[in-house]
Parts: sequence; structure tokens; C-alpha cells
Amino acid sequence: MSSKAPDSDNVCKDLESMLALAKEKIHSAKSSDEVEQLRVEFLGKKGKVSALLSILRDATPEDRKKIGATGNKVKINLETGISRKKLELEKDELNKKLENDELDSSLPGLTNAFGRPHPVRQIMREACQILERAGLKSVYGPEVEYEDYCFDRLNFKPGHAARDMQATFFVKNAQAESLVLRTHTSPVQVRVLLDLAKKEFPLPIRMFAPGRVYRVDDDATHSPMFHQIEGLVVDKTSGMGDLKAHLDYFFRQFFSQSTKVRFRPSYFPFTEPSAEVDISCVFCDGKGCRVCKSSGWLEVAGAGLVHPEVFKACGWDPEAVGGWAFGMGIERLAMLKLRVPDLRSFFENRLSFLRATSLGSPSR
Ligand code: PHE
Repeated sequence: MSSKAPDSDNVCKDLESMLALAKEKIHSAKSSDEVEQLRVEFLGKKGKVSALLSILRDATPEDRKKIGATGNKVKINLETGISRKKLELEKDELNKKLENDELDSSLPGLTNAFGRPHPVRQIMREACQILERAGLKSVYGPEVEYEDYCFDRLNFKPGHAARDMQATFFVKNAQAESLVLRTHTSPVQVRVLLDLAKKEFPLPIRMFAPGRVYRVDDDATHSPMFHQIEGLVVDKTSGMGDLKAHLDYFFRQFFSQSTKVRFRPSYFPFTEPSAEVDISCVFCDGKGCRVCKSSGWLEVAGAGLVHPEVFKACGWDPEAVGGWAFGMGIERLAMLKLRVPDLRSFFENRLSFLRATSLGSPSR
């Protein structure tokens, strides 16, 4: 056991009583400046703690240990007490200042997070704008549609196998009408043709119908609700060449000037001849990749010449007019343009996804 040095005991006592005094002073300080002065007074280079600890230089190793330990404890105690009090007073001072000042230009400004249209809406808008530039006008139809308009007048015969092509949601209403959630935007064609057949409408009809459609379908590339855009042109004569020219224009504007468009023979009840519309793969420029399954082409739309039966069912003389139509899925276009592999991401509405897929600057 080492002998007790009276010196070290005294110094430690002095340190403790100085701590008590300092604490009192800190407690009753009225301003942050006052607290700062106390910091200098006690903890500064020439402050009271340093003065008391100067004795360490000549102390024995045992005394040094004792005094050092107490000194450190006192220092830490003082430092925390002072910074806590300083923060508290600074906060009060700022609040007082804010109460008195109308404007504090030193505070950081508030930033607003602007909203923007959903990516599907942005793509839809872009598609509509291109068709408008091509001289087509937008027409809207109901989403709950007569089965007659959705199928029958479009030459889907009752019991026709083609009805199975589109898995339909049927709607019941009190009047027991045959209603469906429209499976495609083509019934808008029917509405326009029926409406204009009764009037002396000057040809051509040049329209497009954007909107929501519904099918019983749900996987990585299908959703029970999705969007389509449909084009219809009716004139004295209007053929496949005109249709192809419009689709060339559309896809070159939508993707890039180098986009190529090709037709493949297909079947729809309401068009004859019918075509599947492919574009050169936007990922590999037609060279062949995983997305286009090495074919260099991507299927993006259906199209064809309006079937004579559709004209007849809508009150028009198929001998006197000709027309073409096309229809395509907006989500499909969005997936290709925004490089989104899973269609369902559009409907989950994760903010990170919506921000990353946004096309332009913030707007309405
Ligand atoms: N309505 C068709 C569909 O949804 C697409 C289409 C429209 C095909 C117009 C040809 C002409 O599958």
C-alpha cells in the first residue's frame, strides 16, 4: 500500500469543490455567451482546472494517478454540463429571435417535393400527342360497355371462338343489360361509326381512342387493368399503305428515327386483312438479343382494314367507304421505352420506381 500524500487529497478536494461551484454557475447562467465565458474560466488553457492540475508536473506517480483520475472526471463533467446548457440556451435564444423577427434569412429554406404524372400517364400523353400531330382527334368512350359494342358489332359472332381471345369481366346491372368491362378500346370505333352514320358527316374520320381496358389476366406482362390506344381512319378509300405510313410515323416519333415497322399476317374479327405490327428491337437495333429472342423484332400492336361486317353493323355502306384501324397497349410501350421488365411495377406505385422512370421535369 502506498502512503497517502496529503497534497493529492487536497488537490482532489479542491477539484471537487470547484466542480460544485462551476455547476452552480452553469445552472444559473442566463445566456449562451455567459456559458461560453464559464467554459473559458474553468476549462480554458489558463482556466481553473488547468491551474489546479499544474501540480501534476511535480507529483509522485501515485499522486499523479489519483489527481489525474479526479481531474478527468471533473473535466468530463464540466464539458457535458457546459455543452448541454449551451445548447439549451441557444435553442431558447433562437426561439425568442424567431418570435420577434418576422424573417430569419439564416434558416434553411423549405424544399417542396413536386409531384409528377405517373409513367403510364406520361407515355399515354406522349402517344396521344404524336397521333394529334398526325392529324387524329381524341375520342373517349365508357369503360363499362355494351357487350354488343365490345363484341357483336365488331363481328365477334356469339359463340365465336374469337370471344375467348379476350378474357372478359361481365357486369350485371338492374336492367339485366349485357354489359362488360371493355376488353379493348375498339368499341369506341363502333360508337363513333354509329353516331356519324346518322349524320351527314364529311369524311375523313380521323380519330384515336385512349383509355383503360380490362381482362382476366395477371402476370409479369399482363395486368387485369391496362391502357390501350386505338386509331381509326375512315375515308372514301383508305388502305394498308396509308395505315403503314401512319404506324411508321408513330413508332419513329415514339422510339427513334431508325425504328423499322413490319406487318405480319394475323387475324382479328373486326379487320380484314389483319396484321400484327412489329418494330425493330429497341434494345439491340434489330440485331437480335434476349428481349427480342434473337429475332430482332418486337410485337407492339394489332392493325388492319375495317371489316365490311363492322361497317354494315354500324350503319355504313362498305362499298362506299374504306378504313383502317390499329390498337396497342400503353404499358407494353412503356415497358419498352422505360426498360421496365415487369409490368406489375407500374401498379405497385413505389416512389423510388416512379422517380426512376419519370421521363421529364416535374410538372402537373
Ligand atoms: N382491339 C385489338 C385488341 O385489343 C387490337 C386491334 C385494334 C387490332 C384495331 C386491329 C385493329 O387486341
